[in-house]
Amino acid sequence: MGIYAQTLKNIATEDFERLEDEHQRLHDSIDIIRSTCINLENLLSCQNCNRVQIATCKGRLTSFSYNLISISENHFDFEESIMLQVAGISKESEEFHNHQQSHQNILKELKEALSECDLLDSQGRTAECYRLLYRRAAELHEEHGRLFDLE
Ligand SMILES: [Fe+2]
Repeated sequence: MGIYAQTLKNIATEDFERLEDEHQRLHDSIDIIRSTCINLENLLSCQNCNRVQIATCKGRLTSFSYNLISISENHFDFEESIMLQVAGISKESEEFHNHQQSHQNILKELKEALSECDLLDSQGRTAECYRLLYRRAAELHEEHGRLFDLE
């Protein structure tokens, strides 16, 4: 059994609820990205959208960037702190180290996607920016969940 699974077995109810709540917030923030751009699942550009829609998409980018990073950072810090409460697990444990590396990698990749996104948006390619951001955020969190949090 992985350390995350061991952590869940020994965790206090309020910590478990906080984890679940944070997972939900992450999920919701990725879902709002998906539902904001109406061209997310096709390859159309913003020329097909009216001004109000374009203003909404552009306007929400700042809060998406902030939310994705801050929710992920808080969540990872919390997850790491509760994993360290498992008997026999320390910062030097290989399994803990690998899990922490994966968290850091997600943050790095999200920040890279966000700066690529900024560039696309400034070129008027906001729909591409949404597709990139949604795909990267969803993939990174799905992969991490599968490899580390569900074992
Ligand atoms: Fe994790």
